[in-house]
Amino acid sequence: MDGNGRWAAKRGLPRNLGHKAGAEALRKVVDSCRRLGIQYVTFYAFSTENWKRPVEEVNALMKLFKDYLDEVDRFSGKKSRIIFLGDKSPFPAELRDRMTALEKDSAQYTSMTIMLAMNYGGRDDIVYAAKRLARLSAEGDISPEDIDEKTFSGMLYTGSAPDADLIVRSSGEQRLSNFLLWQSAYAEFYFTDTLWPDFDEKELKKALESFAARSRRFGGV
Ligand code: IPE
Ligand code: MG
Repeated sequence: MDGNGRWAAKRGLPRNLGHKAGAEALRKVVDSCRRLGIQYVTFYAFSTENWKRPVEEVNALMKLFKDYLDEVDRFSGKKSRIIFLGDKSPFPAELRDRMTALEKDSAQYTSMTIMLAMNYGGRDDIVYAAKRLARLSAEGDISPEDIDEKTFSGMLYTGSAPDADLIVRSSGEQRLSNFLLWQSAYAEFYFTDTLWPDFDEKELKKALESFAARSRRFGGV
């Protein structure tokens, strides 16, 4: 979800209002995904590198996350499972508790899974999985010879969710920025110049149409 800052700057507004508009777009896109029958969708909300931003911007984002999660039941509680990707520990306690409660309360839903990547980094994801496996091995619960790609995948923050099929990036940037490094091994990419606050169902459909026209061979012929 890139381009909130530029969206605000174009209108002479502070960056925070760009993030607010971005949260509005997220609400609508989540609903569109549900309508279109998408079973798994992941949004990159905050990276392990975003802590480098000015403290005022980080604080404003934390407040926005809190407000967003407080009303998540209203717009996405329509029987969707919520999973957070990333280490929750650096977040303020209030936010952390809300995240944990949402995961727990929505764990029973299976029709749609919404993954919110918050304090997420693809490298951190892989290191976290390696640590979990090392611990299991040290405790004698797994033998190193038994570790394969499937076992490793299962240890990532995404757990049993399937690999990413399509990665959409807004705002004209063409890079992965430490998003789902492992899970995107055979993902298709779609880039649009549209800034995230302007991204809507029409844009989503364009991305899906592009995806539908790709020939995916997964290294085969
Ligand atoms: C993405 O928008 C939102 C977050 C990373 C939280 P940006 O804040 O990166 O917007 P630009 O890139 O400055 O336009
Ligand atoms: Mg950006």
